[in-house]
Amino acid sequence: MHETVTVDLPGRAYEVRIGPGLIARAGAEIAPLLHRSRVAVLTDDNVAALHLDALGMGLAETGVKMQALTLDAGEATKSWGPLQKCVEWLLDAKVERSDVVVALGGGVIGDLAGFAAAILRRGVRFVQIPTSLLAQVDSSVGGKTGINVAQGKNLVGAFHQPSLVLADTDVLDTLPERDLLAGYGEVVKYGLLGDAEFFAWLERNGPALAQGDAAARIAAVRRSVEMKAEIVIRDETEQGDRALLNLGHTFCHALEAATGYSNRLLHGEGVAIGCALAFELSARLGLCAQEDPSRVRAHLREMGMKTDLADIPGELPGSEALLDLMGQDKKVVDGTLRFILARGIGQAFVTSDVSRDAVRDLLSDGLSARS
Ligand code: GLY
Repeated sequence: MHETVTVDLPGRAYEVRIGPGLIARAGAEIAPLLHRSRVAVLTDDNVAALHLDALGMGLAETGVKMQALTLDAGEATKSWGPLQKCVEWLLDAKVERSDVVVALGGGVIGDLAGFAAAILRRGVRFVQIPTSLLAQVDSSVGGKTGINVAQGKNLVGAFHQPSLVLADTDVLDTLPERDLLAGYGEVVKYGLLGDAEFFAWLERNGPALAQGDAAARIAAVRRSVEMKAEIVIRDETEQGDRALLNLGHTFCHALEAATGYSNRLLHGEGVAIGCALAFELSARLGLCAQEDPSRVRAHLREMGMKTDLADIPGELPGSEALLDLMGQDKKVVDGTLRFILARGIGQAFVTSDVSRDAVRDLLSDGLSARS
């Protein structure tokens, strides 16, 4: 019933287990990693209300005791203050170098807990139990951990791979539809960046997946994780190919900054709009067929997702200001913006060879469609 994908990094290989009921059997899954029968869990108040008792019972099945620190839900928790609180709590809880920290939550908790584990006693192991679709298909796999700081998102952190990831697909039933669809933006990204057949499968199965089809959810998480694992194995620290995972993200990060990282635009929604923009830009530059961006937008629309700049509520800055926000992105190298463009669906590549004028025109056209 469970699928397993191995992230086969030399000396740090780990498994991502995918399927229903994994929280209920967390004890059996995690026990082989433990030197003593206890774990320290970091979570947030939304997730704790839904899943912390179930995790406690799942661990108790094999006699594993759990202590938990519950943080405020929300992006603001991925910051210095909560990081300090986590590290001090873990030290007070006498978590030792050979113990295991468990991250129970979405991307915020996974990134924060992973970073706390990376710096605690110069590095303790951690297990990811991702509870959002976005975290299951992206942030829990690949070892990027960290926090946001005043200077920007994710600017302080470490590569610290988890020892195990338990992606319990039952928890997806508890997500609000908007969060599920935002996570689906990252799923679509995988098809668009490297697997045209997967994108075609999503066109056929995405609506059923959104409506709760368990088999479709497991298959989509599995293929996404497989693709992420393949890329991370090739390029763990993003010297090259890993940047492909940032398809749509240069646009997304500018839009998130422009909307104040607020509820106006969730990260995965920005990724979906960013992917549509990346394909539109690719078509305008003559890299891919004009049908490709139309097909991308048609699928996102069918899923009821945000697709264009016009779908973002409220004011947006002009194209020049959005371009400047892109210039703040981590993916700027030697002052040059790097874009992930595509020669077709499933054929993304990294390039710095994009003129500012082409991007400005694209954004201006998208912004004028709003009025
Ligand atoms: N979320 C992009 C990466 O893990 O590289």
